[in-house]
Amino acid sequence: METHKKLTIGLFGFGVVGEGLYRVLQQTPSLNATIKRVCVKHAGRDRNAPPELFTTDKDVLLNDPEINVIVEVINETGPAYEIVTTALKNGKDVVSASKKMLAENFPALLALQEETGKSLLYEASACASIPVIRNLEEYYDNDLLHSIRGIVNGSTNFILTRMFEDNLDFKSALLLAQQLGFAESDPALDVEGWDAVNKWSLLIAHAYGIIKAPGEIIRNGIQHIKLSDATVAQEKNQSIKLVAQAQKLQNGKVAAFVLPQFVKQDDHLAFVRNEYNGVVIESGFADKQFFYGKGAGSFPTASAVLSDIAALRYQYRYEYKKKYHHKPLELTDDFYLRVYVSMDNAIPLPKEQFETLEEWHSDAERKYLIGILPFLALKNGNWWKENNTSLILMPDPIVESMEVAKLKKISLELAGIS
Ligand code: HSE
Repeated sequence: METHKKLTIGLFGFGVVGEGLYRVLQQTPSLNATIKRVCVKHAGRDRNAPPELFTTDKDVLLNDPEINVIVEVINETGPAYEIVTTALKNGKDVVSASKKMLAENFPALLALQEETGKSLLYEASACASIPVIRNLEEYYDNDLLHSIRGIVNGSTNFILTRMFEDNLDFKSALLLAQQLGFAESDPALDVEGWDAVNKWSLLIAHAYGIIKAPGEIIRNGIQHIKLSDATVAQEKNQSIKLVAQAQKLQNGKVAAFVLPQFVKQDDHLAFVRNEYNGVVIESGFADKQFFYGKGAGSFPTASAVLSDIAALRYQYRYEYKKKYHHKPLELTDDFYLRVYVSMDNAIPLPKEQFETLEEWHSDAERKYLIGILPFLALKNGNWWKENNTSLILMPDPIVESMEVAKLKKISLELAGIS
């Protein structure tokens, strides 16, 4: 068996990640991998690499029999899908960092890997430098994974850190994230939680064998978080983070969502600042493990691409063990969430949505309440994303049984809130 295959790479994209990879490969001669050609969208730009390397014709790479690996780190979803699928069909292994494209086309890409027998690796597509996909796939190759929680978007974490710690306003913090190369070209993907949910869709496939399109997972971003919410967090000695969470419940199914969350100071995720990402994995016997690293930026992302390229030397493929070798788990809607909801004073409280109320407050501008909601109240309506409303999960938000919650119940009627 060939163990250390020589890799001849066709690279698509020479932006933040592509150029980073080019530099990183130059500094890693031991890998026995060379970039033969780079396909870019715009010819003639001044690039810090030999001009003869570049082409704008994708077929030059895709039809070159000497090129055995296609690395795709472009921005656009449609063209990325075409490149990846053509490369697999043409018998090439592929490394991709296009999380949106991967998440939106996951079933088709799974089928194509089966059909062609070729490898599609994408470690860089979730949490950039943190080797979380390969760990979920290989190390947690069992059904003891209790939960996985993470900060998986660097830009929003950077923005929240700068807003909380430096009192920077939202727009300036976002601009800085863009200048530093963390943000998507359409920053709404970061800010509204789409990027995080794309990554979460990939991670729950490797964690639990659950194949769900990003649009099927409950999500929100940080766009509705107000200064007054940040003040509440500070009063409680907590911070606000955009947290992706998946947890196996007693019914054997999995609760999953991507929502802003209050995080206590002793939570591992409170330690994750700026563009760093962090993932806390809880398993049956090991208890908690914390993965931490840069989740965005040129070299951190390129480092994960590099690791995938290195893995192709020994013909590594994802086996999707949780899907094919275990009984894949399913998502459930059958649970409750402890939430904080704040809104303008002019808007009536959505009290009919709540099972219980634990705390409420009102001042001249805004009011908030904390209580327990059925998850379906988020799934079946948009009230929590509209009219300047801000919904933030409380720490340890999942409530499995209303019996526990009922002990703390203070009904809206008794509270006299109308
Ligand atoms: N925009 C992404 C983020 C880049 O901020 O996390 C890395 O995937």
